[in-house]
Amino acid sequence: MYSPHARFFCRLGGHCVDRARLLAVRIDYQEVQEIQLISRGGFGEVWSGIYLGRPVAIKRLLPEKRTWDDAMNFAMEIKMMTRLNHPKIVEFIGAAWSNALSIQAICEYMNCGDLKSLLDRSSTKNDSNGTVLTWANIKLHLAIDVADALVYLHSLNPKFIHRDLKSRNILIDAENGAKLSDFGISRNRNLEETMTAGVGTCRWMAPEVIQGAHYDEAVDIYSFGCVLSEMDTCNVPYFDATHTNGSKLQDHAIMAGVVQGTLKLWRSRSRASKRTRRSARRRRSSRTSCAS
Ligand SMILES: Nc1ncnc2c1ncn2[C@@H]1O[C@H](COP(=O)(O)OP(=O)(O)OP(=O)(O)O)[C@@H](O)[C@H]1O
Ligand SMILES: [Mg+2]
Repeated sequence: MYSPHARFFCRLGGHCVDRARLLAVRIDYQEVQEIQLISRGGFGEVWSGIYLGRPVAIKRLLPEKRTWDDAMNFAMEIKMMTRLNHPKIVEFIGAAWSNALSIQAICEYMNCGDLKSLLDRSSTKNDSNGTVLTWANIKLHLAIDVADALVYLHSLNPKFIHRDLKSRNILIDAENGAKLSDFGISRNRNLEETMTAGVGTCRWMAPEVIQGAHYDEAVDIYSFGCVLSEMDTCNVPYFDATHTNGSKLQDHAIMAGVVQGTLKLWRSRSRASKRTRRSARRRRSSRTSCAS
């Protein structure tokens, strides 16, 4: 008869190699010091901390969610992180546990937090240092970083589809720009569970993901488009979508609109972009007149 702890490792893909993979990245639980709670989601929590003098982020299951199934899913997420190695993917440092249910992932600490918070702080169009966020100075660099990370994930064999690309899963570091994170638990959840865990997560989802249909890596490119619109407007996708009576659309109405193709993402209509559109129209009409 196996103990739950041994069963946990045995059930992990059914291969001892999985257990070996986890053991290979195991670090000493006692050496990881937590400092402050950064985020608490529907399933997990993330703390800032220190490991061997280095600032780290510590991700683990919520104490009340520590079931064998959730621990198994989380161990799969950790296993996935051990496969990834790219400058634009948040670095995985190791896994620590005292027992299987307390398993935690230790990653590099991204000192400017996530892109959503950065954009929220900049709703005054200034980040915390008073720098104006523009496409020219910051946003384009961040967008290229995310594109690099996606190219890497989609070039792996087998391909890795993130499936939960959104501004909360793009983390920023003052020196190294944006990196992609959260290869997570969300992937093993159904739509209802995903929505319960994170209200609003559907706003970045491609129609085929919402419909539970067959999908491929194009769903990440769709979500990337939503992130670009978000960076442009400093607002979540469909922030401006309303019913005919003026009330804001909630998640279910947004999903229906995305699936039916009746909702469109908002693009900024700044003077600069109006100018760009005007000059593009002029270029098009001069090309047409040359051709005619
Ligand atoms: N390495 C890190 N450095 C700094 N902040 C982080 C780091 N990892 C996560 N965070 C913060 O914690 C938040 C939640 O992290 P994460 O996306 O990994 O968990 P989650 O969304 O709760 O997990 P899941 O979707 O797997 O249930 C991020 O949006 C970010 O604000
Ligand atoms: Mg997340």
